[in-house]
Amino acid sequence: MSSADPGISSVLAETRVFSPSAEFVANARLNAEKLAALHAAAASDHIGFWGDLAKQELAWQTPFRTVLDDSAAPNYRWFADGRTNASVNCLDRHLGARGEKIAIRFEGDAGTTRTLTYKQLHAEVCKLANGLKSLGVAKGDRVIVYLPHTPEAVIALLACARIGATHSVVFGGFSAASLKDRIEDAGAKWVITADGNMRGGNLIDLKKTVDEALAAGGKSIEKVIVLRHGGNAVSMAAGRDLWWHELLSAQSERCEPEWVEAEHPLFLLYTSGSTGKPKGIQHSTGGYLLWAHLTAQWIFDLKEDDVFWCTADVGWVTGHSYVCYGPLSNGATVMMYEGVPTYPDAGRFWKICQQHGVTIFYTAPTAIRALMKLGDDWPKQYDLSKLRLLGSVGEPINPEAWMWYHRTIGQGKLPIVDTWWQTETGAAMIAPIPGAMPTKPGSCTRPLPGIFADIVDESGTPVQGEEAGGYLVITKPWPGMLRTIWGDNARYQKAYYGQFDNRYYVAGDGAHRDKDGYYWIMGRVDDVLNVSGHRLGTMEIESALVSHPRVAEAAVVGKPHEIKGEAICAFVICKGQRPEGADADALIKELREHVAKEIGAIAKPDDIRLADGLPKTRSGKIMRRLLRSIARGEEITQDVSTLENPAIVKQLISKT
Ligand code: PRX
Repeated sequence: MSSADPGISSVLAETRVFSPSAEFVANARLNAEKLAALHAAAASDHIGFWGDLAKQELAWQTPFRTVLDDSAAPNYRWFADGRTNASVNCLDRHLGARGEKIAIRFEGDAGTTRTLTYKQLHAEVCKLANGLKSLGVAKGDRVIVYLPHTPEAVIALLACARIGATHSVVFGGFSAASLKDRIEDAGAKWVITADGNMRGGNLIDLKKTVDEALAAGGKSIEKVIVLRHGGNAVSMAAGRDLWWHELLSAQSERCEPEWVEAEHPLFLLYTSGSTGKPKGIQHSTGGYLLWAHLTAQWIFDLKEDDVFWCTADVGWVTGHSYVCYGPLSNGATVMMYEGVPTYPDAGRFWKICQQHGVTIFYTAPTAIRALMKLGDDWPKQYDLSKLRLLGSVGEPINPEAWMWYHRTIGQGKLPIVDTWWQTETGAAMIAPIPGAMPTKPGSCTRPLPGIFADIVDESGTPVQGEEAGGYLVITKPWPGMLRTIWGDNARYQKAYYGQFDNRYYVAGDGAHRDKDGYYWIMGRVDDVLNVSGHRLGTMEIESALVSHPRVAEAAVVGKPHEIKGEAICAFVICKGQRPEGADADALIKELREHVAKEIGAIAKPDDIRLADGLPKTRSGKIMRRLLRSIARGEEITQDVSTLENPAIVKQLISKT
């Protein structure tokens, strides 16, 4: 779908409905009645609803008096005159009753395990916070975190939060060039990284990537803190690089928190948009934390003895909200696993569930599809009886994968919470409350209490009728929303509020609603791809391709992929003569590697086609819709007579 496509109509007709068991309902934190009361409270007094929850659920050093300041809308401010600290909410307030409770259960790639109690986690966070202070890190400074998915990643986030520094995590799979861009955009002076780590038995040389990023730019960086983890040899630049364990060895296990205003930026997280440059999504402290905290409680029905496993890497927003801030602010036990689902075999996830007694399991459709393909024999080998709730996030889950998840992992009885949200929304927005409502395979169900969503047409008018689709919008501000794009507030206003004159937050997704008010997400309506649940802008990949000396022009589109959801297909026009045969194969291979170097391996195109030209309108616009049809091998039914160069379509088709 492109923004030029006016109507979005639904083709999916899923009629199955699954209700939670009577036992689940009886023990749930929220049942239908309590949920209805929350919705009613939010509807009758939006401000009072949020104000009451913020007071009840978070620890404040200075209570707020104003709940919402909308004087500079769409730059909303929540609880702005209150002061709090995210690390205090995640750690200190549990030290009394939960000091000896396990906060993190960790399993490494090779199977080594480790646990940290709330007391131990608090001590490690304080030591790193003191270490950071000794290096000059102060409130408001940006710190880049480029770590493997280990407890130290959580320690790094909370240590930054403790002293009021703003963290910006860069996923370990991003390349040196991407890391450099993010360092420069954030104006960071510190990087926290590791020597390396193992993933699926392969070494990821993180420190080397940091060195390359800093050799290419990133001049603002003064110090690099290196965690010894992979044990691989690294070079340490004198005066710049220092070991984590040496920095922490002399630090106190106590560190007074820096109380920050609720609007203080807790973190930046870069994500793709429909233009080339990734956006530094800026989240607040108080509002973000409240939303991560509440949604973890509501959607996952968190209880004292749960072992909660969100499989997302801390490098993505899901890892921020449901590995770190959401569950820890609730005093939960979190499972962290460093590796991949299929290493050393396809039973790894289920083995971890058995061994660590996981009770709530939250993963991405791409992992479910990959594991489903490998067969039922893998999960069958393990005791999954402790599981009581399953979740899905990152992209629409196709009903077939939902049913497999339900039958095979959920023993035909566990509720599945399909949670729709975005980096920008901070935490889940449209998702089931598992003890309060039935679910339908493929639907993320209804907006959560306090969230007001709608579906509108091109003119911004709410669509009517069951099957009518349109743009998914959020009609009222909410505390967890992004505050701005770092360094580019005009882009924030335009990208999220521009389309309908500041009336709504525009998510960039298409959706429709059924007769029960359930939402069905139909994918992005802009030039953003969703590959294995990760967002990639087509423009970003196009820019990476065009930065290769032999490429004149490139157009990137998505096509359906059985496991990844969407695959990347690139049409490339070469400078000079178009190579053929073995030369073409060699260039295609080189281009894939080039994109991996520019962005990261996740952005490597699955399919690259060399062509003599791209289909363009007479005004010079690339006809992406046509390219999408060609990439999918569909019959071309669109009118191509208005094209500037109709002959090119024939050539592109004949190459498929
Ligand atoms: O298209 C939607 C899809 O992922 C996009 C957000 O991507 P990102 O910011 O990387 O965050 C991913 C994790 C929250 C959305 O615009 N998406 C996410 N969850 C779902 C989904 N699409 C359908 N159903 C979901 N449950």
